[in-house]
Amino acid sequence: MNALSVSWSVTGHAALAGVEDEVRRRKQSLLAILSEGLPTLPSHLFQLNQILASSPVDLKEVSALIRSDPSLTAQLLRLCNSALFGLRRRVTRVEEAAILLGTERLRNLVFACYLIQISCAKLSEEDARPFWTHAVMTAMLSERLSRPLKSEDADQAYLGGLLHDMGKLPLLMVAAEENSPVPVWLKGDGEDSLNLEREYFGLDHCEVGRWLGINWNFVTPLVEVLDSHHRPDQAHFTPLLAGTVAVADHFCERIESGASLDEASGDDFYDLCLPGLSESGRGILLGILRHEYPLMQRMLETEPPTVGANRSGRNQQP
Ligand SMILES: [Fe+2]
Ligand SMILES: [Fe+2]
Repeated sequence: MNALSVSWSVTGHAALAGVEDEVRRRKQSLLAILSEGLPTLPSHLFQLNQILASSPVDLKEVSALIRSDPSLTAQLLRLCNSALFGLRRRVTRVEEAAILLGTERLRNLVFACYLIQISCAKLSEEDARPFWTHAVMTAMLSERLSRPLKSEDADQAYLGGLLHDMGKLPLLMVAAEENSPVPVWLKGDGEDSLNLEREYFGLDHCEVGRWLGINWNFVTPLVEVLDSHHRPDQAHFTPLLAGTVAVADHFCERIESGASLDEASGDDFYDLCLPGLSESGRGILLGILRHEYPLMQRMLETEPPTVGANRSGRNQQP
């Protein structure tokens, strides 16, 4: 080995050690956010989750708990009045929202509002908006697909779609501490994203999502969606739910990364999502996605997710 190659080798090793240090540091920041920044659901939300899961649900108790958090109340009414939820009249009181939405959808909204609060507190609107647009599109399409699939719970599909990339939020927060805006590749949810995340943070968003889901006491089907939406063939508990969200997620991701509606439909990944489905059945589902995606995209353009707006809730009258 000559002097030049020795010197190159020393420099190369130093650079490699530097990269490893960076990854280790980011992983520590990530674990700190997981153990301190997002410790558990706040106690009133934990309580709310339990009340909404019980039967019969005491709506008065539910409303009182929501009203105890003014920021949550404001965000809830704002989302509730958006076109996304299709209510025919304007809702100004939490009690009305609870009655009109029903308990499952209310539960979905409460989680969505809490996550919006978390992400808006830590991320710029520019960094948070693509995340929420992708989440809401995936949620609406998952719910839409659950009907022809005769999935038992369309609300579960909506919630799964809404929260499937929740594990990405802590990654975005760590990255935002270093760079603003965060790297473009981290905002996407493509096939390479898991590898890139592991290289950059030492963990990927599915592993982080699983951790959050378990620590927030989510039901097992939902934890499975967080964990396996990029590997739906590994979902064993509720493969239909995980597969439905995986189809909607993949379709959205392909279009977000520049594919046409037809290109987004032609992909072997869908074979992994719902393996029991016939080819014609899969064709019908993809036809639904091609039809619904532009409609929902237009709806979101007029009613974008309420990211970053009115965090204090001062303009709303609970
Ligand atoms: Fe994902
Ligand atoms: Fe996704």
